Amino acid sequence: MLSYRHSYHAGNFADVLKHIVQIAIIEYLKKKDKPFTVHDTHSGAGNYLIDSEHMQKTGEFHDGIEKLLDHRTEIGVIDQYVKLVKQLNPVGKLREYPGSPRIAASLLREQDRLQCTELHSTDYELLSKLFAGNKQVRVEKMDAWQGIKAMLPPQHRRGMVLIDPSYELERDYRDMLPALKMAMERWATATYAIWYPVMDRNRTESFIRQFIKAEIPNMLRVELCVRPDASGRGMTGSGMLVINPPYTLAQHMAQAMPLLEKHLCETGGHTLVKRLTEEQA
Ligand SMILES: C[S@@+](CC[C@H](N)C(=O)[O-])C[C@H]1O[C@@H](n2cnc3c(N)ncnc32)[C@H](O)[C@@H]1O
Repeated sequence: MLSYRHSYHAGNFADVLKHIVQIAIIEYLKKKDKPFTVHDTHSGAGNYLIDSEHMQKTGEFHDGIEKLLDHRTEIGVIDQYVKLVKQLNPVGKLREYPGSPRIAASLLREQDRLQCTELHSTDYELLSKLFAGNKQVRVEKMDAWQGIKAMLPPQHRRGMVLIDPSYELERDYRDMLPALKMAMERWATATYAIWYPVMDRNRTESFIRQFIKAEIPNMLRVELCVRPDASGRGMTGSGMLVINPPYTLAQHMAQAMPLLEKHLCETGGHTLVKRLTEEQA
């Protein structure tokens, strides 16, 4: 039984980092005319209404997207993200926040495809409805790891996989590395972007270390911690582990981080952009 609903958290500081990285990867893929596929393993509902009971209850978007909306930062990856959210809110007021599938779909060209898996019945229904009749998008009510087996490799050689579990179950941590290896065996040329929470620093470091020890090549780690590390006080930050990143991503995120820190972090918050090598294990 899945209890996590992304509708309580949409647009929070973790979504800001995740969606900036997602957009940066897709924009890089668009530099060539050749088609690509985006595969989203934990898709969520795809779109979130700011006035909904869930979003209003937690108000997490106030400390995320809302803090960036009125700023033009002159940092490409941030401005692209803010522009996309604004385009989906043409009236000027923030009424909707797009989930990762809607973000991807809004960036696709005619030749590109999106495929999504989502297990929660309600969110699956919402996602299916969002893309009903859209021939570029395939939505399956399927376990994420089952979807990797069933749907990868896709028809295109180029593309990205976003892996964004809620980590409400221990197995979300435990199964990640085997699932990544399985996906990479099927689709070696893709870029993989794995989201992870920072709730307990030791836990986070051992999660990251296993990928280094497993000698997963070409990894970039990007982390935005809005509060100082403190275990037992909920999520203080989150990160993206990107495998086969676009060669421009490290530089673009290094430029973005001081701005994200300025607008989103409390005193003691911190950021990281780091290429991972085996010696760091
Ligand atoms: C963090 S949310 C996804 C948010 C979305 N990627 C976004 O950025 O808008 C995680 C989603 O994974 C779904 N989920 C949890 N376990 C799953 C599984 N084993 N397979 C597929 N989806 C799962 C949850 O129902 C939830 O909607």
